Amino acid sequence: MSKAFYVTTPIYYVNDAPHIGHAYTTVAGDVLTRWHRQRQEQVFYLTGTDEHGTKVERTAEEHGVTPQEWADRLVEEHWKPVLQTINARTDGFIRTTSDRHRIGVQRFWETLRDNGYVYEADFEGPYCVGCEEFKRPGDLIDGKCPIHDRPVEMLHESNYFFQLAAFQQALLEHYERHPDAVEPKSAYNEVVSFIKQGLEDISMSRSSVGWGIPLPWDEKQVVYVWFDALLNYITAIGYGQDEATFDATWPADVHLVGKDILRFHAVYWPAMLMAAGLPLPAKVFAHGWLLVGGEKMSKSKLTGIAPEQITEDFGVDAFRYYFLRAIAFGQDGSFSWEDMAARYTSELANGLGNLASRGTAMVNKYRDGLLPAPGDYTNADLALQELLVASAEQADAAMLKLDFSGGILAIKTFVDAVNVYVTEQQPWVLAKDEANASRLDTVLYTICEALRAIAVLYHPVMPRATEEMWACLGQGETLEGQNVTTVATWGQLAPGATITKGAALFPRLETT
Ligand code: ME8
Ligand code: MG
Repeated sequence: MSKAFYVTTPIYYVNDAPHIGHAYTTVAGDVLTRWHRQRQEQVFYLTGTDEHGTKVERTAEEHGVTPQEWADRLVEEHWKPVLQTINARTDGFIRTTSDRHRIGVQRFWETLRDNGYVYEADFEGPYCVGCEEFKRPGDLIDGKCPIHDRPVEMLHESNYFFQLAAFQQALLEHYERHPDAVEPKSAYNEVVSFIKQGLEDISMSRSSVGWGIPLPWDEKQVVYVWFDALLNYITAIGYGQDEATFDATWPADVHLVGKDILRFHAVYWPAMLMAAGLPLPAKVFAHGWLLVGGEKMSKSKLTGIAPEQITEDFGVDAFRYYFLRAIAFGQDGSFSWEDMAARYTSELANGLGNLASRGTAMVNKYRDGLLPAPGDYTNADLALQELLVASAEQADAAMLKLDFSGGILAIKTFVDAVNVYVTEQQPWVLAKDEANASRLDTVLYTICEALRAIAVLYHPVMPRATEEMWACLGQGETLEGQNVTTVATWGQLAPGATITKGAALFPRLETT
């Protein structure tokens, strides 16, 4: 079995319902994995929920239910349904309260203890429940956590410790050898300088918290929530239980995370894996924050916008398109309804949607809905074919390096050129004179071939609209099965295919 291209999202806390920040990460991973699927690769895309820890325990208490009841409710009513809302196609959903996860976590820590990396000691320090993390004095601003903007709590515990400091040198060497193991560059630099400042051993258990996975060797303590959560990436694919699946999937090719949780993924996690003798992930990509009013949108601060609030007005494809198109992946971006509406209208309704409806309508009007065979190609036609080759190559290169806005721009450049082509070739003028019949055939065929390529290229970004385009082009095979690396080979549509004019892909927004 060849190794799957393995991509993960963070597992999200179930203390509240998803907002567009979570959806952003999951959509990015979905576009990436759909792109790789269309390159005919084996893919495994994992998401899930982080259900232990103080934050979830307290939220359940406030609602008068047990943490397990609370987690079950949030997972069934919100975290699983949101995947449909944003049309994410995942292969696995891991819950940290599942048996397979608990068994894997206990095996893992037992192994690290056997390997000599776990010891007992006292610890006291400031703890942020929002981050579920002990803070160093230098992390705080006015005694507050800068991410959650609220006071920390002093915790004193007798805990078990993980020998993080023992991996400082090995981590530095790893990152020297693999400069693309953390991206973007700013995140890489941050990680390397954090490691260079010196690593301290870190407590891996909690004696004061009840809601967690018991330590196999001391049932009075539970595994620290982060050192339970990070293990989802291996327990979900069979660690310690199904070695064949594990070997065919691990290591991860890309861990997608927000920059808020970079340190856990790029410092603690690889050290834990080294301690267990397991291979390290190929890449951790830390994207930026979606900001509302200049601040990180968050559940704790009640500034979260639910994905449905946007998909109801704009549709799921526009949702997926907008955030990846408008924000360079890796940088922060502000969300505004005005910008969303402006791009929807100009790029989707007037750009792509209008092209698809004009093209299919003209084949119906002038050729009874049957795709004509092309005649001789002119320079204008050949230029479009060449642009397609270049755009497809650029899109592929960009998507492979998680430059989603670059990938989309490459495809959009082609869409815009086809719209210009239609305007310049004026099929409606050609249709007036029977002497131009062959030229009209060629122009109509060219437009439909372009629509075919656009449907394939945009499918990972906008699965629903492109499925509709595909159906209108009268294609039998599935769109998902189309090879994106050969999309630019001209002439794949068979003349004689039935072309239908569907409903508007991106209906005009109602002005209120
Ligand atoms: O941190 N902008 O879970 P979490 C962009 N359970 N992305 C955002 C965002 C924003 N404003 N807000 C959230 C946890 N995200 C842990 C993870 S993994 C082993 C454990 C996204 O519910 C982004 O991916 O707080 C961020 O890293 C993640 O949601 C945090 O989700
Ligand atoms: Mg958070």
